[in-house]
Amino acid sequence: MLLLPLLLLVVILPGGDNKDMFQWPTSYHIIHIWIFANSSWAQNQGSGWLDDLQIQGWDSDLGTTIFLKSWSKGNFSDEMTELQDLFRVYFIGFTQVVQDHVSVFQLEYPFVIQVIAGCELHSGEAIGSSLRGGLDFVRIRNDSCVPAPDSSSRGQKFCALMTQYQGTSNIIERLLSETYPRYLLGVLDAGKAELQKQVRPEAWLSSGTTPGPGRLLLVCHVSGFYPKPVRVMWMRGEQEQPGPQQGDIIPNADWTWYLRVTLNVAAGEAAGLSCRVKHSSLGDQDIILYWGHPTSISLILVAIIVPSLILSICLALWFWRRWSYQNIS
Ligand SMILES: *[C@@H]1O[C@H](CO)[C@@H](O)[C@H](O)[C@H]1NC(C)=O
Repeated sequence: MLLLPLLLLVVILPGGDNKDMFQWPTSYHIIHIWIFANSSWAQNQGSGWLDDLQIQGWDSDLGTTIFLKSWSKGNFSDEMTELQDLFRVYFIGFTQVVQDHVSVFQLEYPFVIQVIAGCELHSGEAIGSSLRGGLDFVRIRNDSCVPAPDSSSRGQKFCALMTQYQGTSNIIERLLSETYPRYLLGVLDAGKAELQKQVRPEAWLSSGTTPGPGRLLLVCHVSGFYPKPVRVMWMRGEQEQPGPQQGDIIPNADWTWYLRVTLNVAAGEAAGLSCRVKHSSLGDQDIILYWGHPTSISLILVAIIVPSLILSICLALWFWRRWSYQNIS
């Protein structure tokens, strides 16, 4: 049992991440993090993810899973309780194993160990399980333990330790090849309505910090969209402009995303540029925003200035007429 986590540390993730724009999400993985401050203090954190969407947390005091969505259990109920028990033992056991082997593996406090394990969907079927993690002195592939070339004796010691835990290896093997794939298919189905929703982005333009004399930084903000795949381009007519800087796609708090894409141009060349947003929620109707067109702020100004002008003219006329009547009488 105790070797489960050690195994989880070292297997390297195969597959890439070429995600189909309309098949989203496509993977389930757990992230476990241990923080070892000193020989008497350690803490763990756990979470479960569908691609970059968190659906589970872990209460490390109670040793229970936190289900962040009503459908986070997928079609597991009793099985989820079993998994939870397994993880509770595993969190405690792993902490113990690491603390017992700190000197054997020449680890120095404080340190952090992170483990990622999960599976990926390929053409509608859940396969392609993987594990990877935070120590680099061994690798595990096809059930065999291989010390890293530059690991000195640490890798060999680790592999020797591993052979003592065949039962744990079998549990991991079953989790990855059977339990997680089944869970992934179930949870994708249970959460279908929310996972397959389409939320349209809002987009707006602003200018960023001037990159230099005579230059402008045009910023196109795109926010509130779901799912995550999006394409944002700076255009002149139908011509995509080279050299835009795309930021990271950042999560909003409500399971939607935000992205900004900037373009550094000579001040004289900004007119006529537009930002074009393609997203599955928009169908063929891309959002196109033109640089230099009246923004909402100038519209507001017009809305304030025009009525004030009219009012001033009326007042002026009224005073003038009063004044002329007074002069007559
Ligand atoms: C161990 O680390 C914890 C958390 O940083 C700290 O509160 C505690 O005093 C430390 N204990 C020892 C024996 O250093």
